[in-house]
Amino acid sequence: MAQLRVDALVSRAVARRVEERLREITGRRFVHLCGSGTAAIMFTLRAMHIPRGLEVLMPALLCVNPGSATVYAGCKSAFCDVEKETYNVSLSSLEASITPNTRCIIAVHEHGEPCDIEGVMDVAQRHGVPVIEDSAKALGIEIGSGHAGGFGDASIMSFGRGKTIEIEGGGGAVATDDSQLSSRLQKMIKTYPYVDVEGDIFYKVHRSLFYATRDAALNNPSALKYYGRFVDVFKDWYMRSPLGLRWDALEEELVDIEDNIRTRRGTAALYKQILSGGAAKVPAYSGKGSYVRYPVLIGNSETLGPKLRRLGFDSNELIPPVNNMFNPEAPLSTYPNSEYVYKRQLILWAYSDEERVKRCAEAVKEAAKPPA
Ligand SMILES: Cc1ncc(COP(=O)(O)O)c(C=O)c1O
Repeated sequence: MAQLRVDALVSRAVARRVEERLREITGRRFVHLCGSGTAAIMFTLRAMHIPRGLEVLMPALLCVNPGSATVYAGCKSAFCDVEKETYNVSLSSLEASITPNTRCIIAVHEHGEPCDIEGVMDVAQRHGVPVIEDSAKALGIEIGSGHAGGFGDASIMSFGRGKTIEIEGGGGAVATDDSQLSSRLQKMIKTYPYVDVEGDIFYKVHRSLFYATRDAALNNPSALKYYGRFVDVFKDWYMRSPLGLRWDALEEELVDIEDNIRTRRGTAALYKQILSGGAAKVPAYSGKGSYVRYPVLIGNSETLGPKLRRLGFDSNELIPPVNNMFNPEAPLSTYPNSEYVYKRQLILWAYSDEERVKRCAEAVKEAAKPPA
């Protein structure tokens, strides 16, 4: 018992230091650690007093978690399209998708490429809607004169699988400059219990359910509607207390986040160099992101993805847009660019081992067919 108490104190001290470091990296006044990035979004929506049943607008080509967080907060997730070249939010679609029910916009730096966050904030300001910057995959990059995690009314971060920094068991954080929002967040986060779940098992179950739904949806898109319901199975895991998570590991990784970003940029540049001019279409990336993955567009993703995995390279393909996952009553919707991209996208891993990146890129170059 005494040992447990000492551990908890040590963990709290590390957590405070990590929050301080994240304040430094994002330039924010307040940072609060959370059990996950999903929890960070849900707490922020609640702390912003977004009324239940009203809409939170986000890009359709996105991982399911921001939509799930919206549902956990009692709001409705609403969507807009992305740009075909960067897979990030399309400002024209964003503006056209705002309705009288829109009460918040979630702006995402997908795969670590910075979205036009200032453009999103202009649109939001014109419509009097707050912005949550989702910097889950972009921690540590500069955007214009600011930093990812420093834009909008609040920003969220994640340290789960596939993020700039992954820690075993995951974790998240929320950052803001608004002292009232900050104190509401702090109170809310404290009320959630610690949930001791084995990260590996959680991620395996999550992944299996996702792919089973995805496969069913390839024959019948209505199957996607069920995924939003599965998400509830994981609610306790996402909404857990941040206490007891591996903040010591995060603290270590944050020491040289610049090096992490440099390596990721090097990987993206290498993929670009090898794949440019071939059949695969490389994204129009700025080179200023924190590339956690490198997605290209090809004409044969459904066969090349499995082939790459047989060769020992990780990849994802046919990850559908999330717009039909959360509202089973609504008719199926389509966002043309998101639909175009998902059918052609082959998402390559950003290995830090240069040789491995080269071999993976060469395998893609050899077998890719041009996207139609
Ligand atoms: C863009 C984005 N936002 C938020 C999240 C949620 O983060 P977490 O897994 O820590 O809940 C994820 C990934 O899961 C993500 O990809």
